[in-house]
Amino acid sequence: MRTVIGSPVEGDDFFDRESERRRMWRRLETDSLLLLAPRRIGKTSLMRALCAEGADHGFQAVSLSFAACSDEMHCVRELAKAIAGARELDLSALQQALKGLLPDLKSLKLGPLGIELATGESPDWRDLGEALTRSLGSLDGRWLIAVDEVPVFLLHLLKQDDGLARVRGFLYWLRTLRQDHHAQVRWILAGSIGLDTVAARHGLGDTVNDLKPIPLGAFEPETAERFLQALAESYKVDMSGEVRSHIIAQLGWPVPYYLQILFGELYDRVEDGERLDSNLVDQVFDDLLKPAHKGYFDYWRQRLTEELGQPDDGHATHLLSHCARDPSGASRTTLEQALAERIAEPDSRETCLRYLLDILESDGYLVQLDDRWRFRLELLRRYWLQRVAP
Ligand SMILES: Nc1ncnc2c1ncn2[C@@H]1O[C@H](COP(=O)(O)OP(=O)(O)OP(=O)(O)O)[C@@H](O)[C@H]1O
Ligand SMILES: [Mg+2]
Repeated sequence: MRTVIGSPVEGDDFFDRESERRRMWRRLETDSLLLLAPRRIGKTSLMRALCAEGADHGFQAVSLSFAACSDEMHCVRELAKAIAGARELDLSALQQALKGLLPDLKSLKLGPLGIELATGESPDWRDLGEALTRSLGSLDGRWLIAVDEVPVFLLHLLKQDDGLARVRGFLYWLRTLRQDHHAQVRWILAGSIGLDTVAARHGLGDTVNDLKPIPLGAFEPETAERFLQALAESYKVDMSGEVRSHIIAQLGWPVPYYLQILFGELYDRVEDGERLDSNLVDQVFDDLLKPAHKGYFDYWRQRLTEELGQPDDGHATHLLSHCARDPSGASRTTLEQALAERIAEPDSRETCLRYLLDILESDGYLVQLDDRWRFRLELLRRYWLQRVAP
């Protein structure tokens, strides 16, 4: 096992997530899934691990991402490319089925680059996507289609002319595909943004409510211990139980990404001859908050703007700055008062507070404990206090 920091992990570098995988396979027997989790929790890695073991569960599994898609047709093309690249696929049978469903098209080819059409031909994306999914039904076996970064695409679409209507059209179309081809095709839609909350805010909750939500969190402390132990063993580092527990306690929320970062930093120092003890762990934590490492945390701040836009991003930042002042967080009353500085009207203030706390909780910023809202990741709280809070 190697330390991997940032890119999705695969094969031997992928650790655990066993109970999540078991639960997801069980649910996939009857449902399609919505995998919602904060950024950097390990969604992409988990989806790839699921796809890699699809055959053991009777699924031909493919994964794709909508992250770079510019419009709906682009999404359908990504889907075609992923399907055409599936292992053990009878490509010519699929192509035949597809042609049969779209008889008006002069030429249609499926290959490693996806769908190739005759120049000048541009069928409606809805028809093409529907035909593609339907044609899967003519092949043997069941399919699992795992789509990453769905909310990123929807937020992109929302910014276009007529954005809300297009998002609605796209989500209803996708829902119809799920329902019409449920016998042969299951879907996992994933993303780091509270898709359910965002959909509900735009009155589109019913477009995703057939999906079974699967929350994905950090490692359990016991898993985090085993993970650190496994990394230490593969790098031949002697890491005591005390050091492992100290790392986990200081982190406050054992997200694999941050465990990887910490292990990597500690390893560099041990190689330079330093002693691996709790003191060294504290030094590494302090160092991580220096500007040189801001890339490890900045996205938490940037994402608020990408996801919420103005003025909600400013409101959310303001609330977080209040929560950051104390490791045990802030009471709801304090947060209400903080928001009153920005929103005078009580009803709109309450609606906004509820919406933002919902998002900040589901995205992994805050957690509610003993009636107080506190940062989930202690390291992020310290970053926020040093670099963001006024
Ligand atoms: N199961 C795991 N085993 C080991 N490391 C992991 C695991 N899951 C995640 N990681 C660590 O977290 C990092 C991010 O993983 P991944 O890209 O899968 O997360 P993500 O939730 O898809 O992130 P993003 O929201 O940025 O797309 C990896 O580079 C790795 O350091
Ligand atoms: Mg990802």
